[in-house]
Amino acid sequence: MPSIDWRRYLGEYHREHPGAVQEVLLRARSGDHNPYRWLARAVPPTATRVLDLACGGGAMVRELAAPDRTTVGLDLSAAELGVARELSPGPWVQADGVRLPFADDSLDVVTSALGLLVIQPLDEAIREITRVLRPGGALAVIAPSVWLMTPREAAEVTRLTAVLRSRPMFPNPIERTGVKTLLALLRLHRVEDKREVYFYPVAGEDDAVRLVNALYLPRTPPERREAAVDHLVRRSEQRGPLRIAIGMRRVVAMK
Ligand SMILES: C[S@@+](CC[C@H](N)C(=O)[O-])C[C@H]1O[C@@H](n2cnc3c(N)ncnc32)[C@H](O)[C@@H]1O
Repeated sequence: MPSIDWRRYLGEYHREHPGAVQEVLLRARSGDHNPYRWLARAVPPTATRVLDLACGGGAMVRELAAPDRTTVGLDLSAAELGVARELSPGPWVQADGVRLPFADDSLDVVTSALGLLVIQPLDEAIREITRVLRPGGALAVIAPSVWLMTPREAAEVTRLTAVLRSRPMFPNPIERTGVKTLLALLRLHRVEDKREVYFYPVAGEDDAVRLVNALYLPRTPPERREAAVDHLVRRSEQRGPLRIAIGMRRVVAMK
């Protein structure tokens, strides 16, 4: 099977679906919070200079808003930043995550929601993060994780991927490549590694379309995505609102 041209796929995907990822994660709940709130809880209140890397539509920047704090949202996609700008004033920066336009040792915290799954090459991105963080500064990231789901939750996800005939994919399979090794190589010390399961509710077609639109499916033809939407709608009609489990992993590392 030919390899995926991720740069091209990501460029097209984010041009066509700006804001799609946050549309789902903002609605995904674990108790009283969504994944952005969980990531924000890893940021010390004393952090005043914060970068949200691969900010997309800017949900994390808005979550981190606090008096005396500047949170810059950075993303490669003009379309994503267009959504961000419509929702809040920023500051927003269009740049590549492997060439951060910040001075050495200039930031207290770098956050990223799913960003380390997509920025390539990953080791260059982490090298840049290490460069711009001040000594004692922190990197806090979240990424999807398949662990912790119950068999029933996993079965609902498996039914969906069976209809899609493929799984959502990312350029950097963080769960498998070993964050630990990478951080150690780059002189960051992992201080926390936690997992949490969120639930995205599907009560009808809008919810189903939103979910399928938020998935990277580079090998899935449009008819399979439509079949997946139909499947979710049918199941929610038969069984009442569905709760699709989204496992998340939060890693915090310090320089
Ligand atoms: C999975 S989305 C997550 C977006 C956002 N953090 C959220 O939670 O909605 C990944 C984001 O990474 C951005 N991206 C991809 N490659 C990038 C790069 N090399 N540098 C900066 N951003 C990049 C995409 O444009 C996209 O907005």
